[in-house]
Amino acid sequence: MFTAALALGAGAAATQAGDDKLKIGFSQGTMESSWRVNMVEGNRKYAEANLPDVELIVTNGENNASKQVADVESLLAQGIKTLIISPVTADALTPVVKQAMDAGIPVVTLDRKVSTDVTLHIGADNKLIGKSAGSYVCKALNGKGNVVEIQGTAGASATVDRHDLFVETIGKECPDVKVVASQVANYVREPAIKFMEDTLQRFKDGEIQLVYAHNDDMALGAVTALEAANRQKGVMVVGIDGENAAYDAIKAGKMVATFTYHFVAPEGVQYGYKIAKGEKLDKEIVLPTHQVDASNVDQFLGKGF
Ligand code: AHR
Repeated sequence: MFTAALALGAGAAATQAGDDKLKIGFSQGTMESSWRVNMVEGNRKYAEANLPDVELIVTNGENNASKQVADVESLLAQGIKTLIISPVTADALTPVVKQAMDAGIPVVTLDRKVSTDVTLHIGADNKLIGKSAGSYVCKALNGKGNVVEIQGTAGASATVDRHDLFVETIGKECPDVKVVASQVANYVREPAIKFMEDTLQRFKDGEIQLVYAHNDDMALGAVTALEAANRQKGVMVVGIDGENAAYDAIKAGKMVATFTYHFVAPEGVQYGYKIAKGEKLDKEIVLPTHQVDASNVDQFLGKGF
């Protein structure tokens, strides 16, 4: 498990004494998925290799908003010059982010947003992803069918956008596509497997045509449950993120699509550093997303994470 604050490696430390370094705090909401491990490692390695004057202090909120609030308070008490944060949920992290901004500490949010003004937000557009997933599903189902939705963490901006825009889009473009079951599984595979197992008990063979999961870990969990029950035939599975395992599953016909979702490394620390050095930047950087399905998966195989 990822626990303590991580400072930079010995090489960087040799260049500049710890006390003189520019402290940048990085509050990660959780390390439960490989996507999030990549986010931390990508930013940490970039800082180690390129920013010898930086001490990057990383904390892990363990998917618990109260723990993450305490992490941020501790980072602020350590004298950080910029706060980088990927907040577990929007509302619970908003007051402490506002406290940082009010104290003159610039804040960069990565991937998920808070409900207050920040210096910079960097991430892919979850509203666009939810809308694109909705349009994709309408076409894949020829306008009619039953969908099971596996949601991410309740109250996270990514979850809200991936849900709201998906539901809005199918409502407009294919009203005969119905979401017949929907549950939060925290972007984690095991609860997604459990939810899918329970859902397969509730619905008979032929009653579910598609599973829309808010990330690939949960989509792959749905594949596991479908295969274990020998119910995979006639059920399409859609995910989000762009994991190599999801690309392999699309190639093998076990999933039909995923939408790439940038893990914001090294952009997080690159821009956090520029801001700590006083550079003025636009308030939002939107990273690209791509639909990956059987038609183009060969270009993506092995190029995810
Ligand atoms: O906030 C978005 C999600 O968080 C990513 O898609 C997911 O895999 C991560 O844990």
